[in-house]
Amino acid sequence: MTLPSKVKIIDVGPRDGLQNEKQLIDAAVKIELVHRLQAAGLREIEVTSYVSPKWVPQMGDNAQVMAGISRQAGVLYSVLTPNLKGFEAAVADPKIKPHEIVVFGAASEAFSQKNINCSIAESIERFAPVVQAAKAQGIAVRGAMSCTVGCPYEGEIAPSRVEYLAGLMKGIGVERVDVADTIGVGTSAQVQRAFEAALKHFTMDQVCGHFHDTYGQALANTLAALQMGVWNFQSSVAGLGGCPYAKGATGNVATEDLVYMLHGMGIETGIDLDKLIDAGVFISTALGRKPNSRVATALINKRGT
Ligand code: HMG
Ligand code: MG
Repeated sequence: MTLPSKVKIIDVGPRDGLQNEKQLIDAAVKIELVHRLQAAGLREIEVTSYVSPKWVPQMGDNAQVMAGISRQAGVLYSVLTPNLKGFEAAVADPKIKPHEIVVFGAASEAFSQKNINCSIAESIERFAPVVQAAKAQGIAVRGAMSCTVGCPYEGEIAPSRVEYLAGLMKGIGVERVDVADTIGVGTSAQVQRAFEAALKHFTMDQVCGHFHDTYGQALANTLAALQMGVWNFQSSVAGLGGCPYAKGATGNVATEDLVYMLHGMGIETGIDLDKLIDAGVFISTALGRKPNSRVATALINKRGT
């Protein structure tokens, strides 16, 4: 099969990347990160989440961050909303209203309980009115599907679980879904099977890869998905991140690594790799570390010579 000629990258760094940081980060830093990402050519940015600040303190400044962004035309800003309380906060003021909300469920029962404190079935009941309310306001709806290949509590996850969750998401009106390897354990054939399962309910244009890179498989898994025709992917600048309810899981694949691979394959992303590396250096410096990206490290070293 021919590979896609262009790929849409959603940078989830400001949300997935930062949510797990113990030290509270200033809203101004998060806002500057979003500005740098959009200046680097990102056209979709997952900015924050409207979850309980008791569960995820780092995202407690959600409205402040959304209010502080100078929005650029053509950029889609999304936020996570697990329930109506989160949704209402996300749309409380027209200034902070996102273009898209994300409901997030799991293919694993145990992860659903740990992450959002309810069963898969209960989560769908909670998401349904959120989806309806979003659509009534002209806001797009994405569904994140966690643990589509492996779960920190249940181990390997069968594709039938993914098909089941995708069907439930479709049934409540979710418009597109993320096939997430939350703990980065999956290998390419497993990831392809998870996509095949999601594709039973969604089209190729409606599925998106979201790979954490814990076991170093994310680029191989991206290639496997590309070979199926998947052309939407999520990543975190500087390889930031992890999920607070997936112990030991590291960040998403670094956006820099993904962009380098895609450009090397002649696939368009619209992203300026140099500016992206600068955005990664900016946030890494703010966090007191170096970017967790092989490509960023290599190109920064090259700049220094
Ligand atoms: P709960 O305790 O079951 O909720 O939490 P509740 O309705 O019983 O309410 C309990 C308290 O939370 C109440 O406050 C509510 O007001 C408050 P209290 O009376 O105790 O002071 N509350 C909220 N506050 C702010 N915003 C809200 C909200 N809802 C209730 N929206 C809940 C349920 C989902 C809220 C909780 O479990 C939670 O916040 N979990 C955090 C989940 C999370 O953010 N996980 C990380 C993101 S998902 C992820 O990273 C995976 C992904 O990247 C894909 C992948 O890699 O797999 C997307
Ligand atoms: Mg994630």
